[in-house]
Amino acid sequence: MCGIVGIIGRRPVAPLIVDALKRLEYRGYDSAGVATLNDGVLDRRRAEGKLGNLEKKLGEDPLEGRIGIGHTRWATHGVPNETNAHPHFAGDVSVVHNGIIENFAELRDELRAQGSEFHSQTDTEVVCHLIQRELENGKSEIEAAHAAISRLQGAFALAIMFRTNDDLLIAARHGPPLAIGHGDGEAYVGSDAIALAPFTNDITYLDDGDWAAIHRDSFEIFDEAGNPVERSRQKSTTTAILVEKGNHRHFMEKEIHEQPEMISHTLSNYLDFSKYEARPLNAAIDFGTIDRLAISACGTAYYAGLIGKYWFERLARLPVDIDVASEFRYREMPLAKNGAALFISQSGETADTLASLRYCRSQGQIIGSIVNARESTIARESDVVFPIFAGPEIGVASTKAFTCQLAVLASLAIRAAAKRGTISPAQEKAFVRELSETARYTRMALKLENRIEEISRELAQVKDVLYLGRDTNYPLAMEGALKLKEISYIHAEGYAAGELKHGPIALIDDSIPVIVIAPHDRIFEKTVSNMQEVAARGGRIILITDEKGAATASMQTMETIIMPDVPELIAPIVYAVPIQLLAYYTAVFMGTDVDQPRNLAKSVTVE
Ligand code: F6R
Repeated sequence: MCGIVGIIGRRPVAPLIVDALKRLEYRGYDSAGVATLNDGVLDRRRAEGKLGNLEKKLGEDPLEGRIGIGHTRWATHGVPNETNAHPHFAGDVSVVHNGIIENFAELRDELRAQGSEFHSQTDTEVVCHLIQRELENGKSEIEAAHAAISRLQGAFALAIMFRTNDDLLIAARHGPPLAIGHGDGEAYVGSDAIALAPFTNDITYLDDGDWAAIHRDSFEIFDEAGNPVERSRQKSTTTAILVEKGNHRHFMEKEIHEQPEMISHTLSNYLDFSKYEARPLNAAIDFGTIDRLAISACGTAYYAGLIGKYWFERLARLPVDIDVASEFRYREMPLAKNGAALFISQSGETADTLASLRYCRSQGQIIGSIVNARESTIARESDVVFPIFAGPEIGVASTKAFTCQLAVLASLAIRAAAKRGTISPAQEKAFVRELSETARYTRMALKLENRIEEISRELAQVKDVLYLGRDTNYPLAMEGALKLKEISYIHAEGYAAGELKHGPIALIDDSIPVIVIAPHDRIFEKTVSNMQEVAARGGRIILITDEKGAATASMQTMETIIMPDVPELIAPIVYAVPIQLLAYYTAVFMGTDVDQPRNLAKSVTVE
């Protein structure tokens, strides 16, 4: 999603803004721009595509000025081209914006009727014109900004600069996050603390509805009604070191390889390996006594939640209601009186997940979140945060965050089961022992990389792929399909293996590879029957199983990937590795932009 940066400095700010925008690249974008104010003149450079294109323009035609705003745009209204790229201008006003102004059409009609001329197809341009109108009506810059912001509906974060004032930036938050950074005679605004890390770790987050007037040496924050408010300053823990790819071709490859270490680190925070017990948890959610658990998330995090449901229900006999957050938030589902709700989000900023959290809060649920970004809005609005310790995830396609989310969910399920007495102390030790082996098995799975690379060469030739799995490997099948489609653009679907004959089997012919995720477990034989049904119709099977599974299945497959023999509990974590590698290498062979696939954003702060 769009990234925002603003700086009031004592040195030329354009290069600093570009550096900060680079740190927001992970969010996904398709154009970028910078505007500065120099000697009473507002000027800007904008470019379609990657930041390199913008840097080239700035190299050829630099921007001077000690105050400026910058933006990476992920298109919502209007195609990604230079005209629609931010910053937008109208008269004395320049604006960058993340989010959607829902009443923009109505405002644009009103402004057009008053003579405003629009140059882009964006919703953002109405904000510039609206503020400019208020200035023309005699309001000061701060008054004009407040008057305009009060008329906007939707979710937005804004940074605003005025031609008439080189010591003022306005920042406003209505939904997507915004942080103010405090420096020595300099001030900054950014979509997150990661963007501001090279300049300062002294951060004030705006609360929802806040807006701020920021000067070099001071700042004032106001609530929606315009009353001054105090917000706490905090020291951000975000590192200033730009995360590098190291020896890897892509961040995604690096992040796949980091998994054993990150999973170990995550588990060590939830499990006591000396006693083989799950560590006690923050008491805000008493997993021992709650009647039901609701889980909500989006995309990959949702699939992690689905796997978590199997664990909570099977081990702890705790019923789980789960839905994707974009449905959950509007379904008005009844929630248990003595219930808790868990929200899973790598970024901690996903708009739909946050809205589901707020719905559950309004229904009296205790709120827990499993997040990677511990300073995120979802974390800050939770009663208890269960962090994953995955480190920064830069590749847009989530990999290590997924397996670390699973590590946390498995740990919580074991702890819940122990507290509810649905497993004995001996069983708890056995499960913790199994979980403690996850990193080792994951490392073994990574050794299959060369073989998976070969198989991916064939996958890169096809148009459609089906993924099948049962039990916890069913959500993993959906995750596999999601990974493949998002980075290789090959159409893929994940199904419960037993569901195949209820429709999708009609698709089977020798042009569609069917990837079957089937460790040799309790229900392996059932999956073998489904594979027979595929094989009988000429389907080409890529079987991911263990030695025992390969021997028992004894059938003709296109390829068989032999995994280490792992305990059933941790299979979806370990089997995630070949699934990720298959998608990764297929995308590499297709020549796509693996780390920043088209149309995708890392942090989805709009509905
Ligand atoms: C897929 C992917 C997305 C995210 C989803 C939720 O690889 O990364 O499906 O999982 O957008 O994002 P978070 O976890 O930040 O809430």
